[in-house]
Amino acid sequence: MQNFNFYNPVNVVFGKNTITPTLRKLIKPSQRILITYGGGSIFKNGVYDQVIKGLEGNGHKIYEYGGITPNPRYKHGLEAIEICRKKDVNFILSVGGGSVLDCTKFIAAAAHHRGSDPWDVFSKQHLRENRPYDPIPFGDVITLPATGSEMNKNSVMSRHSTGEKICLIHPSMFPKFSILDPETTLSLPWRQTRNGIVDTFIHTIEAYVCQDNDHPVTDRLSEGLIKNLRDVSYRLLKNPNDYGARASLFWASSLALAGLTGCGLCTQDWGVHEIGHSITAHSNTDHAQTLATVLPGYWKHQKSVKLDKLAMYAENVWGINKGSKSYKADVAIDKTVRWFEDIKMPITLSEAGVKPKDIPHIAEQTIKISKQINKCEGIGQSKTIFTKDIEDI
Ligand code: NZQ
Ligand code: ZN
Repeated sequence: MQNFNFYNPVNVVFGKNTITPTLRKLIKPSQRILITYGGGSIFKNGVYDQVIKGLEGNGHKIYEYGGITPNPRYKHGLEAIEICRKKDVNFILSVGGGSVLDCTKFIAAAAHHRGSDPWDVFSKQHLRENRPYDPIPFGDVITLPATGSEMNKNSVMSRHSTGEKICLIHPSMFPKFSILDPETTLSLPWRQTRNGIVDTFIHTIEAYVCQDNDHPVTDRLSEGLIKNLRDVSYRLLKNPNDYGARASLFWASSLALAGLTGCGLCTQDWGVHEIGHSITAHSNTDHAQTLATVLPGYWKHQKSVKLDKLAMYAENVWGINKGSKSYKADVAIDKTVRWFEDIKMPITLSEAGVKPKDIPHIAEQTIKISKQINKCEGIGQSKTIFTKDIEDI
């Protein structure tokens, strides 16, 4: 087990009917608050009303910015930054899924940016170079279990004019608080539910299926999260109103990218995400769908370097105890694909909106972003996956 530093300062409030009382308790009186949201789900499922109830009567000035799209766009962030600057906003409340929260993180970070182009916060990883940094404080009511953004320091934004989809990671991007009421997720359509299950699975697996081996606590935690995901996926297929399954999925998705599943590991991978982000930048495909499409080919390509962990995954998650490591790895990859099919997750490039002629561009773009952000020519756990490998995958 390697040395590590686990730091997670998010105040998490979990459970039924927690939105209104928590907002009353945790937001100081007389703030200038910007509420950010997406395309309107919060009006249909009653979450907006619970939020307003929690804010009213406390002397706040409330402003709103809605219309943030999935795979949030730079231009929406810019419009909201204008409101923050004009109204001198001193707290931002994100209400919605991971896209709304990621965009809120960008708004909070870039509103105080003094350079000419707020995108520098992402493209030049401005925050990394200018510590300490003081964004507008923000909290969230998260309504979609998937990204883990509610318990992590990441934000992912897209800029269509340049074809970039970039992840920013910085300690100032942890929310002050996150409210997780599983009842808010009962209104999710199946497409978003299964997207959340697959995104959570792949967050866990990108850390777990690596070369190194001696960190049993982290491994057993990851295997537990994955087995729980498989279980709740079938429960929710049968009964989308199963509160217990919704609650388990919510907690699993928050834990899967909160830092715990990386403790003690030498390396993590994240190559599937890097390629997936380039597919979304190209075709606006759902994030989780890109991951499910890339993962099987990625594992087959990387099988020799990941053999020990793939065999461990086969044994401890899928109960495959007979045969060689190579056989176990093949069966586990197969079972994973069948699970995606069972939960109706599309897994072909054509379903992701990608034609064969697009593949070289997506591969080049992945490496270009890796060079720009990570200063690395290659991606994956050893940074040895290059353009041609991505095309093969
Ligand atoms: O926009 P509204 O109307 O709110 O509808 C949304 C949206 O259409 C809807 N939705 C959300 N909660 C709902 C609901 N519909 C009914 N009932 C509810 N309770 O779901 C749709 C998708 O929402 P979105 O926020 O885009 O989904 P998700 O949470 O999966 O976020 C995806 C984004 O997060 C990034 C992805 O790349 C993508 O841009 N990621 C962020 C990460 C992070 N911050 O750590 C890590 C991930 O790997 C990922 O890259
Ligand atoms: Zn993800």
